Amino acid sequence: MANPYYEKLLRCAEQVRARIGDFEPHIALVLGSGLAPVAEAMDVRFRVPYNEIDGMPVSTAPGHTGQFLFGFVGGVPVVCMQGRLHYYEGYDIHDVVLPTRIMGLLGAKTLFLTNAAGGLDPAWEPPTLMVITDHVLFSVPNPLIGPNIDELGVRFPDLTNMYEPAIREILMRKGLGMDLPMKEGVYIQFSGPSYETPAEVRIAGALGVSAVGMSTAVEAIAARHMGMKVCGISCITNKGAGLSRKELSHAEIVEAGEIIGQRFSALIAAALPEIDAL
Ligand code: HPA
Repeated sequence: MANPYYEKLLRCAEQVRARIGDFEPHIALVLGSGLAPVAEAMDVRFRVPYNEIDGMPVSTAPGHTGQFLFGFVGGVPVVCMQGRLHYYEGYDIHDVVLPTRIMGLLGAKTLFLTNAAGGLDPAWEPPTLMVITDHVLFSVPNPLIGPNIDELGVRFPDLTNMYEPAIREILMRKGLGMDLPMKEGVYIQFSGPSYETPAEVRIAGALGVSAVGMSTAVEAIAARHMGMKVCGISCITNKGAGLSRKELSHAEIVEAGEIIGQRFSALIAAALPEIDAL
């Protein structure tokens, strides 16, 4: 019997396909909070709000509009998720990765993830951009739990070098060339929505993690499962809980993201043609 979740995915993807004709995105971009400038700089050809796709969960997070944008960034055909779905909003984990899978089915070969994150290295002054080298999925279910969708990928996918080394090299080289504050490190996804406790931040740091956030790892797994290349950048908007004297606030995090948003956006536009040519 066909998997009902897979049938829903195909139905959603077909509705989007009907809106975009033969537009073929090469790269799928997920915009984290503070990355609105990427969308503003985009040559948009089609907009598909999530709430116009029957079966698609709708984003409720503040600052997350919730639509697919299709168009060109740096001359490369892309699909951009303006507004992602978070597990802490109460969605089933399979729905959290549904848009990622839709973008893969529409032809995107690479998934470029971005997010805002807390930094665990006390020497990193926000805002800093961290190219993700690997991740830890923590306190969030794996999105591949349940019957495997054989049409998408294998039951036990390998995640070695999931964050494509060749793309990491491009991002570091371009970012440093643009004088951006670039770092590399491991990202950990907590469920949220409360920020981590200082004890959790200390544990993550002891595990060799450099950034904490509430997204990204599950999307990376779903994309890798279906054979997409994956890369990601965390915008370190604050020091992790307990590492500075300040308490964490969403407003401050958004503000720190906005400080570097234009330049982060310029880095993405500069890197996409080289990533596309790989
Ligand atoms: N923790 C979790 N998510 C975040 C943080 C943080 O410190 N900063 C931005 N997003």
